[in-house]
Amino acid sequence: MMQKGGDFKAWIKQAVEKGYTTRVLRGLLLRRGYPQAQVIKVLNYFEKMKKQFDASKTKTTLNLPKPMTPITNNLTKQTPKLSPKKIEKSEITKKPIQEKDYQKQKEDDKKTVKTELMQVKPLGKPIEEYSIEIDRAKVEIKIEKTETGIMYVLYLPIIPPATKALIDEIRKELISISAIAIGEIVDQKSVNRMKNHFMNEASKILKEKLPHLTKDSEDFLIGTLMQEMMGLGKIEFLINDPHLEEIVIVNSKEIRIYHKKYGWLLTNILLASEDEVTNYANIIARRVGRQISILNPLLDAHVVTGDRANAVLYPIATKGNTITIRKFARDPWTIVDLINNNTLNKEIASLLWLALEYEMNVLFSGGTASGKTVCLNSCMPFIPPNHRVISMEDTRELMLPKFLYWCPLVTRTANAENKGAVTMLDLLVNSLRMRPDRIILGEMRRQKEAEVLFEAMHTGHSVYATVHADTANETIRRLTNPPISVPPSMLGSVNLNVVMFRDRRRGVRRAFQLAEFVSGKDSMTANLLYRWIPEKDQFTQHNKSLAFYDELSRNTGMDEREIEKDLKYKQAVFAWLIKHKIRDLESLGKLMNYYYTDKEKLNHILKNNLIKEIIEKKTSRVK
Ligand SMILES: Nc1ncnc2c1ncn2[C@@H]1O[C@H](COP(=O)(O)OP(=O)(O)O)[C@@H](O)[C@H]1O
Ligand SMILES: [Mg+2]
Repeated sequence: MMQKGGDFKAWIKQAVEKGYTTRVLRGLLLRRGYPQAQVIKVLNYFEKMKKQFDASKTKTTLNLPKPMTPITNNLTKQTPKLSPKKIEKSEITKKPIQEKDYQKQKEDDKKTVKTELMQVKPLGKPIEEYSIEIDRAKVEIKIEKTETGIMYVLYLPIIPPATKALIDEIRKELISISAIAIGEIVDQKSVNRMKNHFMNEASKILKEKLPHLTKDSEDFLIGTLMQEMMGLGKIEFLINDPHLEEIVIVNSKEIRIYHKKYGWLLTNILLASEDEVTNYANIIARRVGRQISILNPLLDAHVVTGDRANAVLYPIATKGNTITIRKFARDPWTIVDLINNNTLNKEIASLLWLALEYEMNVLFSGGTASGKTVCLNSCMPFIPPNHRVISMEDTRELMLPKFLYWCPLVTRTANAENKGAVTMLDLLVNSLRMRPDRIILGEMRRQKEAEVLFEAMHTGHSVYATVHADTANETIRRLTNPPISVPPSMLGSVNLNVVMFRDRRRGVRRAFQLAEFVSGKDSMTANLLYRWIPEKDQFTQHNKSLAFYDELSRNTGMDEREIEKDLKYKQAVFAWLIKHKIRDLESLGKLMNYYYTDKEKLNHILKNNLIKEIIEKKTSRVK
């Protein structure tokens, strides 16, 4: 047993003789549920034994020792049995590298590292090519048309075996420098610091051992090393490809991605084994202070970058260990994008701006994936900068310009012991104590939330939320009937309702209706201000406003003429932005900031086309 020192030493000795690597052993122990501290102790001892063992062996180490794949499905906490069965190629211990190997390898490296690509031949005709770079490693991506459809092909330079062995050595060396497992560190700053340190160290070693390595090759090797040590290996390239929205590891042999332009595509990427997928799931889980194991095979986590990761282990996922990574949009759709792609027009956008400026309540309706959240988010820059904004979501989707005073909250599901859940209602109730001016609710689903939300509207907070409903009238029905059951009279607090529609045939999203709610004889009905005409793909003004303008005049003292003038001004601002191709979130945030704090300056900028004053350097809020 592990606890008894004597037996365990014998067990380690056996592991050394069988040619285990530190990495394999570590994985094996962690999967068996041994505590981190104990694992480190064992590994230290293992490394010591291994050194002695290697030293005692002379140059006759030609036949490779036989390691085996650890058995993972066994839950008992017994010393893992070391039987020489399956061999994972990457796990075979390399003999210590000899000087003559280095000589040969220098030659190899010059020839191969940079130029040779993965042995996957182009599978078809490339439609699009681009490259991405992370931690200095640069790779080519090609979207290729094959017989079975369009494919996402990642071209990774081949690393010659001798170099690979060297990289493994470096990895071991680096890991032994850092006493703690890197995966345990949650704080992003420390991770970055450590990463820089590692990269410098690795660079030193490489320069010393492979002096003829080209800069590109060195960068690639170091980048690969970093991703293997601190990240999800090759998957990191996918995570860092800005064209991808979703990455699905169906199992180790099937990885699919959702490409912004091409939709779902199969990739050419394969992982070494199912264990590698489990290992990645573990890395993700540890980063967020959670666990995933055979007994607790589900994981839903928000990673620091804002990405969301979900993992389900075999046999619950019947095709193998599965990880789904839904990437946080780092460059969200803005109102200018939505005008440009005709999701809505300048008139509708200016009405929304007006509504947000004067603290009206707006609901965003629509079916699944109709663009409710995108439309809601695109309106957020209209909020004045000195207002306290609190948002509540199940998953982080919203992204506001940095000028805003924003506090994003997310719900949390309970852990395995059914503890620690934080519901939308908890957040909502708590948020009211945070003195918010504006409350954003990701999605309104249940009665309790709706009650609190309408109560908040009633008490003078300005509220934005999405609701699942296909038309404005259906929104009313949804809200006033079970399970939400808000009293119809309360709906008077809703000033505007935007209804989004996804035209699947044309693959477009449109603001289908813009409505206000008015009380009829004995119920609420929707009065359509604008609607979309599918045949012409245009928006048309429908009815005259009965409530919205009235309410606005009451709030602002503006008469209808003044309101119209204001709307025209806003439309001119949109036209200016479109003309100068300014569309990104931070630049819009800056413009809005001027609008609310120094309108004269804004007018000066607009009049003299001082674009530089508006364009913001790209910064991302989540880092
Ligand atoms: N106006 C739009 N134009 C183009 N694509 C859009 C638009 N709105 C949404 N999308 C796409 O549809 C996806 C789903 O939109 P989302 O707003 O999250 O839907 P919902 O909240 O209605 O479920 C987004 O990730 C985005 O890629
Ligand atoms: Mg949504």
